[in-house]
Amino acid sequence: MKILFYIPQADAAAWLHDFARALPEAELREWQPGDTAPADFAVVWRPPREMLAGRDTLRAIFNLGAGVDAMLALEHEQLGTLPRNAQLIRLEDTGMAPQMAEYVTHAVLRYLRRFDEYQMLQNERRWEVLDPHPRETFTVGVLGLGVLGAQVAQALAAFGMPVRGYSRSARQIDGIVTFAGEAQFDAFLDGVKVLVNLLPHTPDTGDVLNARTFSKLARGAYLINVARGGHLVEADLLDALASGQLAAATLDVFREEPLPADHPFWQAPRITITPHMSALTLREESVEQVARKINALTRGDTVSGVVNLERGY
Ligand code: NAP
Ligand code: GLV
Repeated sequence: MKILFYIPQADAAAWLHDFARALPEAELREWQPGDTAPADFAVVWRPPREMLAGRDTLRAIFNLGAGVDAMLALEHEQLGTLPRNAQLIRLEDTGMAPQMAEYVTHAVLRYLRRFDEYQMLQNERRWEVLDPHPRETFTVGVLGLGVLGAQVAQALAAFGMPVRGYSRSARQIDGIVTFAGEAQFDAFLDGVKVLVNLLPHTPDTGDVLNARTFSKLARGAYLINVARGGHLVEADLLDALASGQLAAATLDVFREEPLPADHPFWQAPRITITPHMSALTLREESVEQVARKINALTRGDTVSGVVNLERGY
């Protein structure tokens, strides 16, 4: 079995080393420009088009992340880039869900207990106790109830604030009030105090964090975007912060990454920025999951995590 890699990170050698241990019978090679030799599987993160185009022998492409939007963009820009017979398979959790639950819980609790405002008071050497936000109306709405969103919603519910979730198809999760499909979108948003985005970036979800969406939330709501920058209409966020419809935002993802030094978000006092680190791909867990699925496919079994190309996730 031949496996081709494209892992543009400083530690590519460590990934190959771990895969060689997990799949000792496999022939592994790192893709180099000009390499068109056959391979059965590819393991990639944001590969160049030339690596994949025309690779008719590939059985599956493993994406070393949960989101496959960059892979599907390659196909969208040039039809036929993704080999027709290869399944596209994304990572499922592999240690990202606990990281995401920590990140989002931290951000929500920071707003619930007004630590962001206490930091501003400290900067002005002001000793002042603020009225607490009532927990029972501090409703958190989680967009996306998949592998990550469902665990985030459950982690938040453990703190006792009301939690709602929104997905494409109907879902039932203990302790979460769930909504599904476009017809229930406004009911999901109505009065939400913290909106958390964990949707995949697809043609249906791009720009979903816009002025209309913000207008349905409680006045002075908070936004936490940990999915993709393409979900957010940036000018609408700045307007909503200026008008007070939104009180603050925590953003981990951006339309352009790294966020350019002259971007207005850096200067916005109520925007907290992190560099796309809310849930990092963990090598050990990812190698274990991908190797297990390669073995399953080689035996002729089916695996989970296969992307539906029509749906876009
Ligand atoms: P997932 O398991 O595929 O879950 C996606 C969820 O979104 C599902 O509940 C799905 O509904 C829902 N959804 C998709 N399209 C929808 C639509 N048009 N309307 C309503 N709901 C829709 O994905 P995941 O593993 O949880 O990951 C989610 C995203 O997080 C990834 O795509 C990636 O962009 C982002 N992410 C970011 C980081 C980071 O470090 N910032 C790390 C990892 C992932 P159904 O349940 O009905 O299918
Ligand atoms: C990271 O953003 C991922 O999609 O895994």
